[in-house]
Amino acid sequence: MTKLNINHREYELEIEPHETLADVLYKKLNLIGVRQSCGKGECGSCTVLMDGKPVLSCIMLAMQAEGKEILTIEGLGSHDNLHPIQEAFIEEHGFQCGFCTPGIILSTKNLLEVNPRPSASEVGEALSGHICRCGAYSKIINSVLKASEKIGDGHVEK
Ligand code: FES
Ligand code: FES
Repeated sequence: MTKLNINHREYELEIEPHETLADVLYKKLNLIGVRQSCGKGECGSCTVLMDGKPVLSCIMLAMQAEGKEILTIEGLGSHDNLHPIQEAFIEEHGFQCGFCTPGIILSTKNLLEVNPRPSASEVGEALSGHICRCGAYSKIINSVLKASEKIGDGHVEK
């Protein structure tokens, strides 16, 4: 059995050595906010946070996550209590189809922890590993800047 800490909860799971973290999160735990697209580390859509830092879950073995804290979009906020970054993306229309959005929001959380007041170009650089097939980039950047305003100069709380 492999022990994983996911969204502040401990799981004990039967995991095969070849299984990726993305597959375990999506298929075994039904965390459907973990979006797989390219499956080879090129688009960023499967991004989750591991000990607070973005990782590409499609090219990471699930076993490598043992002893780490994994956060997916399901662990960030809820319908009744959205995270300020989620609120900002809604207010600024920072998505179209929404497929890339969970990964981008999680990378944004990390960005605003290390750089609470990024410039637009710093946002673009921080999110450069994410491909948005809808081309919503300018609204995504506005959403991140709005989130930065909402959160202020403090650290992201949740
Ligand atoms: S699905 Fe993981 S980087 Fe594209
Ligand atoms: S909003 Fe559709 S892929 Fe980004």
